Amino acid sequence: MTLSLDFDAMDPAIRYKLLSAVVIPRPVAWVTTLGAAGQVNAAPYSFFNVFGQDPAIVVLGLQNKPDGSAKDTTANIRRTGEFVVNIATPDLVAGMVDTAAPYPADISEAAALGLAIEPSAHVAPPRLAAAPVSLECVRHTAITFSAERELMIGRVVGMAARDGLIDTETWRVDWNGDYPVARLFADRYARLEEIEPRSIPPVPKT
Ligand SMILES: Cc1cc2nc3c(=O)[nH]c(=O)nc-3n(C[C@H](O)[C@H](O)[C@H](O)COP(=O)(O)O)c2cc1C
Repeated sequence: MTLSLDFDAMDPAIRYKLLSAVVIPRPVAWVTTLGAAGQVNAAPYSFFNVFGQDPAIVVLGLQNKPDGSAKDTTANIRRTGEFVVNIATPDLVAGMVDTAAPYPADISEAAALGLAIEPSAHVAPPRLAAAPVSLECVRHTAITFSAERELMIGRVVGMAARDGLIDTETWRVDWNGDYPVARLFADRYARLEEIEPRSIPPVPKT
């Protein structure tokens, strides 16, 4: 027997539980933005991915707070048009998750949690110094689906990477086995383990 579920007849909260537990692993965007008084906001967003290179597009799935108001990241991107996606490795998970606590908008998670920051080269929000790589982004478009959710589509205008991560002759990225953390669901995370490489074969001759 196969379980067949009708999503149109389902409570959205259940859909969330199911979708976020089957579409895994998800990468995490540890997003830094600037608040109205210049404070550095940081928060993780795992409804995130890259969708192209020309333009270089990333997308964040931003949910509003239960009272319908925008999260700080959303409000800051709307106001400033800029954000930085910091990519975290497993050793950074504790610090990353701590920034998901609902700090008030005028409090900087970076300052409150003692996260070191470094200036970005192409946008005003700084990057997180501990992240091996950061994507400097400007807002391209936002699509609002409902009172709860919008997609923030950003264009990557710059990248900052720690020494040795990117070979600028070959443009290869060498993670040296220390890959970004993968989000599973709820409070669970995973380390990536590579399996055998497998190249796409040509179409067999008939
Ligand atoms: C690993 C992780 C991933 C998350 N992903 C999302 C997400 O994709 N969308 C979202 O709206 N909230 C997500 N959250 C919750 C936000 O991080 C949380 O609401 C945070 O307080 C928002 O902070 P801000 O108001 O400073 O933007 C996630 C939390 C964690 C721990």
